[in-house]
Amino acid sequence: MSGTKEEERKGSSEWREFFWNPRTHELMGRTATSWGLILLFYLVFYLFLAGMFVLTMYIMLLTLDDYSPTWQDQLATPGMMIRPKGDQLDITVSVSDSESWDGFVRNLNTFLSPYNDSYQVQTNDNCPPDQFFIQEDSGEVRNNPKRSCQFNRTMLGDCSGMSDRFFGYSRGQPCILIKLNRVIGMLPGKDGQSPSVSCGAKSEDRDKMGPLKYFPPNGTFNLMYYPYYGKKAQVNYTQPLVAVKFLNASVNTDINVECKINSNTLADGSDRDKFAGRISFKLRINDK
Ligand SMILES: *[C@@H]1O[C@H](CO)[C@@H](O)[C@H](O)[C@H]1NC(C)=O
Ligand SMILES: *[C@@H]1O[C@H](CO)[C@@H](O)[C@H](O)[C@H]1NC(C)=O
Ligand SMILES: *[C@@H]1O[C@H](CO)[C@@H](O)[C@H](O)[C@H]1NC(C)=O
Ligand SMILES: *[C@@H]1O[C@H](CO)[C@@H](O)[C@H](O)[C@H]1NC(C)=O
Ligand SMILES: *[C@@H]1O[C@H](CO)[C@@H](O)[C@H](O)[C@H]1NC(C)=O
Repeated sequence: MSGTKEEERKGSSEWREFFWNPRTHELMGRTATSWGLILLFYLVFYLFLAGMFVLTMYIMLLTLDDYSPTWQDQLATPGMMIRPKGDQLDITVSVSDSESWDGFVRNLNTFLSPYNDSYQVQTNDNCPPDQFFIQEDSGEVRNNPKRSCQFNRTMLGDCSGMSDRFFGYSRGQPCILIKLNRVIGMLPGKDGQSPSVSCGAKSEDRDKMGPLKYFPPNGTFNLMYYPYYGKKAQVNYTQPLVAVKFLNASVNTDINVECKINSNTLADGSDRDKFAGRISFKLRINDK
């Protein structure tokens, strides 16, 4: 019994001595000099690490360019998007129920506001069509800011919202706007041939889609809107659009439409990327 107590006392005093040994002046088994050296070592070590980090970061930032991304997905063919954008790319309207298309019309008006002719004349150039609008930098000398070409709202004809302020939605002949996603430096076409959009219905809906009308004619994205140099270099860039008007689509039935880009330089979207150069949406026009 007393033996254990003795041992306990001895153990605790040993422990106390380990923590602070008054004879050798050691704290936890080390002298002040030893502790100092350890602290110094870690201080130098961490400063070195921090220095390395700052240096690599600095070198990396030096290689970045404000005007163009250093790394950009090398998408062979960009994706496309439609306006108005409903839920799940689903455009369902009832001709006589203005509430069903009111939101679409408002969406289109907002989207097209910067395309107003008056605004385009103020901000952009009237470029020669059917050729690229090249504005390269000459070596290190930046050619910025770069100019952009006019895309007038009136070029969308019946789908401009000017002659028909409801974009055909009140008459069961809706307009859909299509844009091609921006890719810096992309040259989509050659030999004066602009890329164009064509739309078709999925096989089982082929008879329901009826004839289409494209604006601008033939559904082209004119070459003069390319290449795109990025938001910072080309501040007033106006993305070209193609409008598709459904002239006599069947009513009260779902029509699955697919639009795709035709170009002599962009590859067809592969099975691997079914969104490259194409977009699918569902159109339904109810007659009451
Ligand atoms: C564009 O025109 C429409 C109708 O003509 C007008 O409501 C809108 O405010 C205009 N937008 C700009 C930016 O001028
Ligand atoms: C756009 O409209 C303005 C004013 O109507 C006109 O002066 C200009 O030539 C048009 N631009 C294009 C590219 O059609
Ligand atoms: C952009 O548009 C503004 C007018 O809104 C114009 O003053 C400016 O010169 C334009 N910049 C370029 C680079 O086209
Ligand atoms: C539309 O395409 C046809 C045939 O490809 C061509 O003859 C016509 O000139 C084109 N129209 C326009 C306005 O580009
Ligand atoms: C519209 O399509 C229907 C069939 O869906 C057809 O009977 C009708 O003749 C077409 N109207 C016009 C003007 O083409």
